[in-house]
Amino acid sequence: MPVVAILGAQWGDEGKGKVVDMLAQRVSMVVRFSGGDNAGHTVSNPAGEFKLHLVPSGIFAPEVTCIIGNGVVINPKVLIGEIDQLNQRGVDTSRLFISDRANLIMPYHLLLDGLEEEARGGKALGTTLKGVGPAFADKTARLGIRVGDLLDKEAFRERLGAVLDHKNVILTKVYGAKALSLDEVYSQYCQYGERLAPHIRETVIMLHEALDRGEMVLLEGAQGTLLDPDFGTYPYATSSSPLAGGACLGAGLGPNKIDRIFGVYKAYCTRVGGGPFPTELKDETGDLIRERAHEYGTTTGRPRRCGWFDAVAARFSSRVNGFTGAVVTRLDILDVLPALKVCVGYKLDGKNIDSFPASAVALARCRPVYEELPGWETPTTEIRRYDQLPLKARQYIARLEELIACPVSLVCVGPERAQAIEKTPIL
Ligand code: GDP
Ligand code: IMO
Ligand code: MG
Repeated sequence: MPVVAILGAQWGDEGKGKVVDMLAQRVSMVVRFSGGDNAGHTVSNPAGEFKLHLVPSGIFAPEVTCIIGNGVVINPKVLIGEIDQLNQRGVDTSRLFISDRANLIMPYHLLLDGLEEEARGGKALGTTLKGVGPAFADKTARLGIRVGDLLDKEAFRERLGAVLDHKNVILTKVYGAKALSLDEVYSQYCQYGERLAPHIRETVIMLHEALDRGEMVLLEGAQGTLLDPDFGTYPYATSSSPLAGGACLGAGLGPNKIDRIFGVYKAYCTRVGGGPFPTELKDETGDLIRERAHEYGTTTGRPRRCGWFDAVAARFSSRVNGFTGAVVTRLDILDVLPALKVCVGYKLDGKNIDSFPASAVALARCRPVYEELPGWETPTTEIRRYDQLPLKARQYIARLEELIACPVSLVCVGPERAQAIEKTPIL
């Protein structure tokens, strides 16, 4: 039975949460594998509208086991808040499990995210200020504290003491900030540990047992490929890999176990935070898309930068992930536009190129080469069958398929679970 990955193919916020919520009805496990509460996944279903940051979007499906994998960094305060809110709204979270190997976001990570951004001044990355970057840096520097550490209080105190000594030197001597108290952080995190203990598991075993039973598993991506620290617009990137390769590492799975890899694309592009964005529209069309689509960050509320579909970036994204299929969301947002542009190449320093440059400085100098397609100027939000979409909308999708070199399996025409059109069977 297949493992299916649902991954962000652009700069995040493509609608991964919506797609996972819809497909979770057909699987027995959903695993989040990367990022932290920098993610914001909006889900609209019969239970209401929810904004999830850490809890997998499969939590609304009654029989589904939801796992926050080892590749996620967890702010326990945020997770507990999210669990409480879900419970208050009648959503059962007893099937939520957290990897004992996942690293924790600690109070100094939050402080350092802010201080580092401030120090970057005009070159700030526009992070979500959730401490995610500093937590992943510590994981790699072997200074991390993991979820499982909370279960052995004595060992936790010793580990925290050693790490905090180091962090307090940086906070006070580099940034002139106040030192954190070991007693306060320790007692706060012990409380979080007690609260989360029933959810903490060796989740990699759970995942493989499910696979051995022949169950179907969804891997829920966070962020998007163009924010990947290797393949994204570095340094305007996040700190963990949103790619299919990242899914293997962050869930504890060999690449040969993933059967299908779906890239989720918006029918246009958005980006929140700093960094180059060749097709950005700083005009009334960009404003129209932002207002029609309410393109404001789920996590930070910041206005998202909007632009035309970038097929150069989209094809690159498909290649580095090995997408076997694509999902196009928010097609309905384009319903009112008389003409649509798609970027099919870049002009860089007078030369035409059709590849996505490694350098963010070079990408910032790229000017998009557009192809224009007619708009369909017809509402699509009520349509549920692919052949009932306006011809020009199908032609737009067909052109995207050609340019990305990947078949589109699912098209979304609204935020609700039901507002999706399966072009070809996705699971
Ligand atoms: P994620 O981070 O990839 O899960 O995406 P976000 O939740 O941050 O942003 C996607 C937004 O688009 C959410 O507000 C969704 O409810 C909404 N959405 C998803 N698919 C569609 C669609 O096909 N049409 C419209 N109008 N909204 C959609
Ligand atoms: P979802 O899962 C959109 C962006 C931030 C910033 C950069 C680095 O909802 O698609 P970070 O806090 O990760 O150090 O910030 O990455 N970013 C996202 N943008 N959607 C996300 O997640 C994002 N997660 C991080 O805006 O530009
Ligand atoms: Mg989001």
